[in-house]
Amino acid sequence: MKTRVFRLEANASWHEALRVAATALRNGELVAFPTETVYGLGGHALDELAVRRIFAAKGRPADNPLIVHVPSVEALRPLVATIPPQLPLLARCFWPGPLTLVLPRSSIVPDVTTGGLDSVAIRLPNHPVALALLQRVRVPLAAPSANRSGRPSPTQASHVLDDLAGHVAVVLDGGSARVGVESTVLDLTGELPTILRPGGITREQLAAVLGEVVVDSRARALPNGDIEASEPVRSPGMKYQHYAPQAPATLVEGEPPGVWQGLCDLLQMQGAKRYGLLVSREGEEWLRQCELPPGAVILCLGSRNHPEEFAQHLFSALRTMDEKQVEAIFIEGISEEGLGLAVMNRLRRAAGGRIVAADRVGR
Ligand code: TXA
Ligand code: MG
Repeated sequence: MKTRVFRLEANASWHEALRVAATALRNGELVAFPTETVYGLGGHALDELAVRRIFAAKGRPADNPLIVHVPSVEALRPLVATIPPQLPLLARCFWPGPLTLVLPRSSIVPDVTTGGLDSVAIRLPNHPVALALLQRVRVPLAAPSANRSGRPSPTQASHVLDDLAGHVAVVLDGGSARVGVESTVLDLTGELPTILRPGGITREQLAAVLGEVVVDSRARALPNGDIEASEPVRSPGMKYQHYAPQAPATLVEGEPPGVWQGLCDLLQMQGAKRYGLLVSREGEEWLRQCELPPGAVILCLGSRNHPEEFAQHLFSALRTMDEKQVEAIFIEGISEEGLGLAVMNRLRRAAGGRIVAADRVGR
């Protein structure tokens, strides 16, 4: 299949691109489009064949359900069995935006879309191209992140093409994603609203509106649900492997300057000829006084005090490490406050359980 790419500039006409994309989607073909979080691989959510194509293109396990994207609150009504009491308030506060709500599903949503669950995940994205496409095509779009399963999520159209060229009919290029990590997945089917995946809307923002919000233990992506237990252990399985770069990544967690000292000590011990270092601006500065072994590819993710900078840069940085063909990657962890919770979830998964508490390095 030949993939058609359209670049959608802010002040140019999107007419032809949207026409071609909407036609492809109505024919059951796939279209990758930008959202504020990451690029999505869209298909007609109510068309079983189209949804199967999404799973095949990504190489995604069939039991991992998809998020259904809609252009308005009205458009979600036919997809759900009941509207939970918190929904109107959440929609008013956070939609359009990086919040996905898990709701009881109606019978028009096919099993393939929800992985056989009796709930459906729904989101109203905040991106002009995504909204224009949804309004134009007038069907709900199932859209997982537009990467091959297991790879870092795409924050630029070039990432989508690297993974999926030839497997998607159309790519709409809307530039770099603003948020950089995926939406927060909030389950509203239980007794208390529960964060299943931390993302662009923070736990603090949700708590301010809902009063109480539970964070599912898996949302922190700790190897044993417990950082204390995470001395230099190998991951027991592939369960946490996600967003994975090709080279093994090790995440060092702790407060500065301990976290930098820990990184420094770990780097002295490592044996790779060519290795990658993902650090904060402050960490990069501090590490200048540490005698690093040769062969470092250093990328700065942003300030430790601005987790939104880490969020924006982390996936493309992981892809860059693949391009540079490093043999090992070392990453500075940050605090789990605010967007830091989503950032640390992604970094722990990228590290596949190789998490080191800074004060335990070398012990
Ligand atoms: O920001 C995002 O959410 C992006 C953009 C494209 O919208 N999409 C995205 O989709 O990240 P994906 O497929 O990569 O992740 C969907 C997440 C998975 O963790 C999946 O298990 C969860 O949402 N999910 C989907 N439906 C669910 C359901 N019914 N119950 C519980 N979790 C669900
Ligand atoms: Mg994904």
